[in-house]
Amino acid sequence: MESLCYLNGEFMPLADARIPVLDRGFIFGDGVYEVIPAYGRVLFRLEQHLARLAYSLRSIRLANPHDARTWATLLGTVVDRNPWDDQSVYLQVTRGVAPRSHEFPRTTPPTVFIMANPLKTPPPETRERGVAVVTREDYRWRRCDIKSVSLLANVLLRQEAEDAGAAETVLLRDGNVTEASASNVYVVKNGVIASPPKDNLILPGITYDLVLELARAAGLPVEVRPVAAAELLAADEVWLSSSTREVQPVTRVDGEPVGTGKPGPDFARMYQLFQDYKARVRQATHV
Ligand code: PDD
Repeated sequence: MESLCYLNGEFMPLADARIPVLDRGFIFGDGVYEVIPAYGRVLFRLEQHLARLAYSLRSIRLANPHDARTWATLLGTVVDRNPWDDQSVYLQVTRGVAPRSHEFPRTTPPTVFIMANPLKTPPPETRERGVAVVTREDYRWRRCDIKSVSLLANVLLRQEAEDAGAAETVLLRDGNVTEASASNVYVVKNGVIASPPKDNLILPGITYDLVLELARAAGLPVEVRPVAAAELLAADEVWLSSSTREVQPVTRVDGEPVGTGKPGPDFARMYQLFQDYKARVRQATHV
């Protein structure tokens, strides 16, 4: 089915969208992005995604090309004009097209691009059996809080999971877990959910905020604190979260079983809380 996208003021079939080779996103990875799920065509936590986008843009000193209302209209139009009820909406803003030179161009308009894909939530077997992860040294830069399109390190690190037949690469810096190549990480021990704090070493996940919010609202104990690498294998449960994975149980770390080697009861509880929340989103209208 033909996918419709938005590029610099126009809606068009994705196959027709073109950008010049001198776009700084292509040349330097000089841009930021968002991935926003839409459930039943309702954009999930749109306000929070737009706030994170504004933060990323501010952090790379690029003026936000649109106010929140305009973003909501553009994103809503892409969602409405694509054929799927559940979508993963991708938005990217780069510093535009200019002769290649590292410093910022002075008067170049940004490139603004939005596309949608069908949202594939994890298949039931990942929920029933869990997924495997590998751990690697987190050799990324120290501004992982910016949702930058410069993702080479994340790509290389994820490929190591792929090569090992695992689903994700959990990243370790100075003996602590930071996050994974494209998701946030939690350990659960004796019913207490722990996850690293939102600082410059991790992406402040929108799903991370929701998981912690749902846990607190349900009275599950939560600790936001540094998580030592050794806690991964000592944990009863390990989870991943992201816009596309939702919440996922990890049952093997570097080939070793986590807890019983099966998804645990705390995951089952969180999964249910998440599904209930999603059901409420579907009833809402966007913005
Ligand atoms: N990635 N950490 C990293 C490094 C990520 O790339 C992502 C999301 C997350 C989770 O953030 P959120 O809950 O807001 O999706 C954490 C997206 C899905 C991607 O790059 O495709």
